[in-house]
Amino acid sequence: KDAPLLFQPITIGGVTFKNRIFVSPMCQYSSSDGHATDWHLVHIGGFATRGAGAICLEATAVVPEGRISPQDAGIWKDSQIAPLKRIVEFCHSQGTKVGIQLAHAGRKASLLAPWIGPVRTAAADEGGWPDKVYAPSAISYANNYPLPKEVSERDMQYIEDAFADAIVRCEKVGFDFIEIHGAHGYLLHSFVSPLSNVRNDTYGGQPLENRLRFPLRVVQLCRAAWSKPLFVRISASDWAEGLEKGEDGNWAQWGIEQSTIYVGEMLKLGVDLVDCSSGGNWAKQKIRYEHGYQVPFAAALKKAHPSLSIGAVGLLTDPLFVERYLQDGKTDVVFLGRELLRNPHWPLAAAKALGTPVKAANQYERAW
Ligand code: FNR
Repeated sequence: KDAPLLFQPITIGGVTFKNRIFVSPMCQYSSSDGHATDWHLVHIGGFATRGAGAICLEATAVVPEGRISPQDAGIWKDSQIAPLKRIVEFCHSQGTKVGIQLAHAGRKASLLAPWIGPVRTAAADEGGWPDKVYAPSAISYANNYPLPKEVSERDMQYIEDAFADAIVRCEKVGFDFIEIHGAHGYLLHSFVSPLSNVRNDTYGGQPLENRLRFPLRVVQLCRAAWSKPLFVRISASDWAEGLEKGEDGNWAQWGIEQSTIYVGEMLKLGVDLVDCSSGGNWAKQKIRYEHGYQVPFAAALKKAHPSLSIGAVGLLTDPLFVERYLQDGKTDVVFLGRELLRNPHWPLAAAKALGTPVKAANQYERAW
C-alpha cells in the first residue's frame, strides 16, 4: 500500500522534500536589529525535530523600513547571515529543508509588535519610521496605521536592488528555497489590488497589467538571481464586499480571476510554487473561516495551471481532510501555521492518524 500523499516525498524545482508538510512563515517579533536570535533557533529547530518536510522562515525584510515592526527579521546586511546559517544547518541535520520569506511590508510597516499593545503606528521614539513608509498610493490601511508616501520609480529601483542583494545573502546562508511575500496587504499585494493602487502611471490604476508590472519585475529579478526553488505567496482575494469587477466593468477589488492571470505570468517567469493565501489588504474584510477555507483558491489555481506546484494554507488541522485535498489534486503541499504552534508534533500525530510510519529525531523515537 502506498504511503499517504502527505508523507510521500515531492520534488519542486529540483529539490526533494521528504513530505508535504510545510511550516508556514510566522513572524516572531523576536529579532535584534533584524538578526535572528536564540529564540529562532529553538522555535524553528523544534519543527525540524518533529518531522516537517520544510520550514519557511518568517517574513524577512530586504530593507530596514520594509519591516512590519522594529522586532522583525531582516536580511539587509551581511551580519544577518551567520545567525540564519546556524538555524539552516540545524534543520539540515534533521533532514528538513528550510527557506525564507523575503518581504517588504509596504504600507503595513512601522507598527508596534502585537504584544506591546493594540496594533498601531510605531512612532520614531518607539523604534518606528512612520516617515519612511512607502506604498503604491498614499492610502493608509487603517486609521491606526501610517499614512504611506507614494513610492517613486527611483525608490522602486532601490527596493528591487535590495531584493537582489538579499538573494546573494540567502545563497551564502544556504537556504533550500526562497518565498517572495506577495500576500496580506504588504508591498507587492498592495500593488496588484485596485483598492490600494490608484496610481495613474504605468504601475497602477485599472489596467491589470499595470498593477502587475512591479510585482512581476521583482519576481523576475529574484528568478534571475536564484537557481533553487522560488515560491511566491499571494493573497487570492481581498474579501472586500461585492464583486471583483463593478457593474461599470472596472476592477473593484483583487480576486481569484486576476490572481489566475497573475499566477500564469509567474509560471512563465519560472516560479516553482505558488503558496495561496488570501486577505490582509482591506481592513473591513469579511472572511468565512472554516477548515481549509482558502483551499478553493488553491484548487482554482491548480486547475488553471496544472504544471505549477501549489501550496494551500489556512485552518488546515485535520490530517484526513488534508490528505483528501492532496488526493483530489487541489494542492501539492500544505502550509500549516497556528496548528503547529499549538502542536509542533502534528506531523507525527498525522502520520499515526493516516497509518504510516514517519521519522522524528532519534532522540524522540521512543515516544512514537
Ligand atoms: C502569520 N502569518 C504570516 N504569513 C506570512 O506570509 N508571513 C508571515 O511572516 C506571517 N506571520 C505570522 C505570524 C503568526 C504568529 C501567525 C499566527 C500567522 C500567516 C500564516 O503564515 C498563515 O498563513 C495563517 O496563520 C493561516 O494558517 P493557519 O495558521 O490557520 O494554519
